[in-house]
This record gives sequence, C-alpha cells and structure tokens, in this order.
Amino acid sequence: MRKLYVAMVGLPARGKSTLARRIREGLTDEGIRAAIFNNGDLRRSMMGQESTAPEFYRPDNAFGKQARDIIARRNMDLARQFLAEGGEVAILDATNASRARRQLIESTLTDHPVLFIECVNEDPLLLDACIRRKTGLPEYKDCTEAEALESFRTRISYYELLYTPVGEERYWMCVDATANRILAESPCDGSPYYPPIRDIVVSTWVRCLYLARHGQTEYNVEGRIGGDPPLTPKGRAQAEALAAHLRGVNIPYVFTSTRRRSHQTAAPALAERPDTIYMDFKEFDEIWAGDCEGMLYEDIRVRMPEVTRGRNADKFGYAYPNGESYAMLKERVRRGLRRALFLAGDSPLMIIGHQAINRILLSLFLLQRSEDVPFIYIPQNQYYHISTTPRRKLFELVRFA
Ligand code: F6P
Repeated sequence: MRKLYVAMVGLPARGKSTLARRIREGLTDEGIRAAIFNNGDLRRSMMGQESTAPEFYRPDNAFGKQARDIIARRNMDLARQFLAEGGEVAILDATNASRARRQLIESTLTDHPVLFIECVNEDPLLLDACIRRKTGLPEYKDCTEAEALESFRTRISYYELLYTPVGEERYWMCVDATANRILAESPCDGSPYYPPIRDIVVSTWVRCLYLARHGQTEYNVEGRIGGDPPLTPKGRAQAEALAAHLRGVNIPYVFTSTRRRSHQTAAPALAERPDTIYMDFKEFDEIWAGDCEGMLYEDIRVRMPEVTRGRNADKFGYAYPNGESYAMLKERVRRGLRRALFLAGDSPLMIIGHQAINRILLSLFLLQRSEDVPFIYIPQNQYYHISTTPRRKLFELVRFA
C-alpha cells in the first residue's frame, strides 16, 4: 500500500506549520496515522542559539548549509522510519525553499510519493504581523524586539535568494494560506490521502472564536444608526461583564472595528490581559449608512421613505444612498475574518463587532440564505462561541450580562 510524504514549502512566516498541524489533526480525526517532522525544532535542539543568528542561513555559509542539510536528512530518515513502522502520512515541516532541497527529498524518499504543499501569503499586513510574532519565540529571548525583527527579516532575505516556487516537482499544491484556497496543483491522483488533505486545506478552521457585539450606545437607546457614539453606562457595564465572564479564559487575540464603541467594549478585557495581541480592523466597521449616517430609523421612515421601502423589499441587497448594503459588506468582512483567523492560527480569538457585521460573520460560517442574514439575532449581552473544524461544528449563544 502506497503511503505518502507531505513536504511543506514556503518562506518563513507563511503559515506552513499551522497548516501542517491541521493536516495532521484532520487526518488523525479520520483514523489515519500522521506525524510531523519539523526541521526548526530539530535545529533548535541540535544547534541551540547558534542557529538563531541570520548568518547561519546565508547561502554561502558552508557550515550553516551543511548543518541544515544534516537536519533535513535526519528528519527524512525519521519520516521514512515512521512510515515503515505503521505510519501512513509523514509531514516534513520546513521551508524546503530551494529546488535543490526538493530534488534531494524526491531522490531520497523514493519508497512512497512525495506531495509538496507550498504556502504563500501575499497580504502585507498579515506578513508583517506574522514576522513580528516570530520575534516572541524563545530563541529570541536575549534580544530586544527590534534586534529580533532585524535578525528574522535578514534570515528571510537569505531564504529569498534561493527560493523557487513549486512547479517542477511531480506532485504539488500551491495554497493561499490566508484564505484556505488552492491556487494551483499537480494532484497526487490515486493516493487515498490526497482527497482528505485537499479537504483539510480548503476548510475553514476556527478552533475557538468568541464573537461579541459592542455594548449599548447612546445611539442604540435613541434608535439612531451608524456614527461613532460612545457606550452608555449600561454599555460600559456590559463591557465589564464580558471581561469578568471571560476572566481566566485563554484568548490571546482580540480584534475590534475602528469604532469607539467596539474599542470601549474591548477595553476592560484588554486591561486585564496585557499579553493579548490586539488589532482593530476597518473591515469590521459597521455597515456604512451613507446619507443616512447618524439618522433615527424614524426620521428615515418619514424623510426618506424610499430608503425604508428599499430595505423592506430587499434588506440584504439594498444599499443606503452613498452607503453600503449587506451584500457589499460581505467581501470586506470576509477579508477581515480571513486576516483575524490567519493571525490567530490555532489560538482562541475574540472579535467585537457590530450588529450588521456580526450577522455577516455568522453567515460566513452558517451559510444562511442571504435574505435571512439581516435578521439574525445579535444581542449586546450575549456572545456567540464558535468552533468549526472539518470534524467539529459548535455554535452556542452564551449570556454574560
Ligand atoms: O442600530 C445599530 C446598528 O449597528 C446601526 O449602526 C446599523 O446601521 C444597524 O445596526 C444595522 O442593523 P439593521 O440592518 O437591522 O438596521
């Protein structure tokens, strides 16, 4: 029976290890024995601190190159042994950036097919954030953040010198790691492991997402839409209650919109969690009501009846004059979610959004009929707890205030 080697490919900070872990977990859930052989882990245990210096990766550094080849060969041996002893899919997690390295893998591991999975990440915001995150690794513990950043960027620039995209190998897949999308592939036809791996790659993985709406605002009380109002005392109490409810829960990533009400709702939780990685995204800003921004629903009904009529006829498709529709929100909200999920990787995250935004976010998971989306219930004293992997689908509405 033909088993399978999977060799990850890509420059550092492109999401390879997260994808490798998902492949292992997804396959294991299907009863398939899979294991990861990570060159970085082996390098750190064999070479220690010395291999953190960027010079170690300079293509003309003979010592560094030899050391990295030894590590790659060692992991290939371990992977082969794993398959020989009952394993089914062995995942080699490394940059495998050069054509030469991939030829070495193909010519060394000849007992089973090798599928190369290249991860690309062309989103500058995500790339920058991922690179910054790497500076928190234990191997940079003796550097300042600026030193770590420079060191890691230099390391990447050395890899770039020898990086060639996949394409000449026999079996390969090129994946946009930020969007769960296969960009091109040369399929490993006939392998029973190829279809499940493909499914895992294109699935949305959300291990643990807390989706909350901002607390009550002055506009909410008045029935006014849009704008940038602050929270009311009740809204601030809701924000405090959210922080208290989630106290002790591991949430390393928090995302909000750029609006004051979502900042203020996140504030109490963030104040208790100094290590949280926090970003605000314009993608999560509330639906833009254009000429109706800041108006009362009632005023719109009286002074702009065509707007109310338009929304009543097709709330999903109707765009406010000079503003947005739910349909228009979909693309930007999807981009924001993609970014948040990529940054959080497999860690829990919280998004504090708005009524229309959270409806769209939920619809991206629940595949609701469009016409139902603008009516999804989005309370201010409950959050949605979402966990969805190929195996697990959890949506619960949890009251916190
Ligand atoms: O009323 C609060 C609010 O967030 C407004 O800013 C926004 O226009 C509205 O909800 C979206 O909900 P709906 O589409 O039901 O009016």
